[in-house]
Amino acid sequence: MTKSNEVLIFDTTLRDGEQSPGATMTHSEKLEIAEMLDEMGVDIIEAGFPIASEGDFQAVSEIAKLAKSATICGLSRANYKDIDRCWEAVKHAKSPRIHTFIGTSPLHRAIPNLNMDEMAERIHDTVTHARNLCDNVQWSPMDATRTEWDYLCRVVEIAIKAGATTINIPDTVGYTAPRESADLIRNLIATVPGADDVIFATHCHNDLGMATANSLAAVEGGARQIECTINGLGERAGNTALEEVVMALKVRNDIMPYTTRIDTRKIMNISRRVATVSGFAVQYNKAIVGKNAFAHESGIHQDGMLKNRETFEVMKPEDVGLSGTSLPLGKHSGRAALRAKLAEMGFDLADNQLNDIFIRFKDLADRKKEVFDDDLMALVYQNDTSE
Ligand code: KIV
Ligand code: ZN
Repeated sequence: MTKSNEVLIFDTTLRDGEQSPGATMTHSEKLEIAEMLDEMGVDIIEAGFPIASEGDFQAVSEIAKLAKSATICGLSRANYKDIDRCWEAVKHAKSPRIHTFIGTSPLHRAIPNLNMDEMAERIHDTVTHARNLCDNVQWSPMDATRTEWDYLCRVVEIAIKAGATTINIPDTVGYTAPRESADLIRNLIATVPGADDVIFATHCHNDLGMATANSLAAVEGGARQIECTINGLGERAGNTALEEVVMALKVRNDIMPYTTRIDTRKIMNISRRVATVSGFAVQYNKAIVGKNAFAHESGIHQDGMLKNRETFEVMKPEDVGLSGTSLPLGKHSGRAALRAKLAEMGFDLADNQLNDIFIRFKDLADRKKEVFDDDLMALVYQNDTSE
């Protein structure tokens, strides 16, 4: 299969994201997030783990019914009962997918106590079973990045022959590094018979802070599906953040010529909603969606931004759904930003008035983290009465 440059976005906020301790969402919150994901152009929504609870089963079934364009996927372990339950939930979708997985690394093989041959047989049987129910089957060797190379090739080949249409390569514990991530996918595609007929996916965790870099590297290696979550929600240090990979592919399309179907202007809204319903606040300096991602306080930066916004921004805030750049006033701010802010508030001041206010503004800013419009208003009127 010749590889197109389109990268599918597989969002697992409602499954892997919700597995973060404390991030549980209610049924109606999950439906609302699923609708937002569908509207923003996510290709595949992993809506939950249907065998995990009656609530998860119901949520996946409802989401399957309401999705307009996304494929709806449910997770299942490598046994018939899980797979049947998953199918019961996703079968309502216009485009359903069963995702089944098993841990293939030595550490993970020890848990069900299966030897290599027994596990290979289990993979063959469960993927065949899933494929008999649904013609869209994703298979994942959990902890792939710590699985022996020969065994990984062997089980991927078995899954493809049994009918898997997507092979996902999870970096379950966030252990890989970018070059290794690219090589792993590239070498699997070059080595495993039948690899050209399926889509390879990358699923990275962020334990070492490399999830975004590893996902993009996997795309360079030939992966055409990125698994990710809004705000990078997920167990431990989280999953690859959807907003980061999507904006990186958009902004650096010159060196990473891949496209997604995501309407990036919907990013901020869904980020805020996921933060609220999961109870996981977004850190201020988080890439793309943090409060400070498009904010500039220092005088030099504010002056540069007022002259040409590209001086300190590599993307437009409007492209992620913000109304514009923010220039908060604080002790590092300069005269140019103060003048611009006061003009925006309707005050057209002479130079000597601005100088007076600037001195008192600096004095106030030394005592306060941020100077707000009300503070400025007080400074202006104080100035009026002192004249
Ligand atoms: O991280 C992981 O390995 C997973 C699998 C279930 C795909 O989330
Ligand atoms: Zn995961």
